Amino acid sequence: DRYCVIMAGGIGSRFWPMSTQKFPKQFQDILGVGRTMIQQTYDRISKIIPKENIFIITNKEYVELSHQQLPEVPQENIVGEPLLKNTAPCNLYMANKIAEINPNATMIVLPADHLILKEQTFLDKVELAFDLAAKHEYLVTLGITPTRPDTGYGYIQFVDKKDSDYYKVKTFTEKPILEIAKSFLESGDFLWNAGIFIWSVKSIHHAFETYLPEMTQHFMACEYNADSEKSCIELIYPKVQKISIDNGILEKAKNVYVIPADLGWSDLGTWTSVYENTEKDENRNAVKLKHILTYNSKGNVIRLKNSNKAVIIDGLKDYIIVDTDKALLICPRDHDQLIKEYVLDLKNLK
Ligand code: GDD
Ligand code: MG
Repeated sequence: DRYCVIMAGGIGSRFWPMSTQKFPKQFQDILGVGRTMIQQTYDRISKIIPKENIFIITNKEYVELSHQQLPEVPQENIVGEPLLKNTAPCNLYMANKIAEINPNATMIVLPADHLILKEQTFLDKVELAFDLAAKHEYLVTLGITPTRPDTGYGYIQFVDKKDSDYYKVKTFTEKPILEIAKSFLESGDFLWNAGIFIWSVKSIHHAFETYLPEMTQHFMACEYNADSEKSCIELIYPKVQKISIDNGILEKAKNVYVIPADLGWSDLGTWTSVYENTEKDENRNAVKLKHILTYNSKGNVIRLKNSNKAVIIDGLKDYIIVDTDKALLICPRDHDQLIKEYVLDLKNLK
């Protein structure tokens, strides 16, 4: 059987002030299309996976929000984490939980906050990935042709063999520094890791045993039935290492395979990606509202949340301007990766 895990525990801090700890971006309709990011993720995958087999893992703060936005998903399939431990622990936990239901299961892990314009291509590639994951001990990821030296992504170098739909991964480099990202882009043989993974519960468990043995040991103590789940997760989470699945497993594993996929994909992770994926006016400003007037200004992304405030902007080029009830951000677009750190500074002020 096939299963799906939607990871929705991030706080989207690069996306401040639209995304906040109380209401992170995966639960928002960022592009204004009428469905939130997590709802769009569910809509896409529920075409090929029955809703009983779809699970959500998120911070316990967002369990209720997940349930409200996705009432179709059985309540017992929504798991709340007590602490932010990044994506390795939640992957292991869910693989164990699904293995308990079906030890021969294959699963797809999806981030809750991605834009995918070419849905049919996505579904076709996922089909291929499930086939590979069922037949071999492969950890399969989808690869995107990179368009800029973005330091927020994982970079995949693969072993080239002509005329194949998938390749063995040679190197996986998570979030390289700018110089290295630039050299990867220039070399032309790298793909971005889309952050979408397909594997069997057996293969991923094996990888955790090999590369994160301590974490694997901790979770062995857990029982995965509804009665003891809550107390078990509360007990184990404080003990496990905070690390991403990319750093913890994919950079190290030798059995990673990539399926190149032209998905019309974007990790709506930063203001630049929102800028790129929304309509722009004749001055390349991404601004939807009539009461925002711009003069001599180009390439800006301008958002007002819940407000009809009149705004005049003169002489700004390539900026992010976001105004909410509680916060105002003015930042050059090419500094959008730094917002995460600015938000930390803000926390330290309090
Ligand atoms: N349950 C849970 N718990 N989910 C989490 C946690 C956590 O502690 N931390 C993050 N997530 C969720 C986020 O909500 C998001 O849906 C997904 O896991 C990925 O986390 P991000 O924080 O967005 O990762 P990233 O964008 O920096 O990097 C990953 O995605 C890139 C592509 O978008 C990596 O896989 C990169 O290699 C990849 O290129
Ligand atoms: Mg992301």
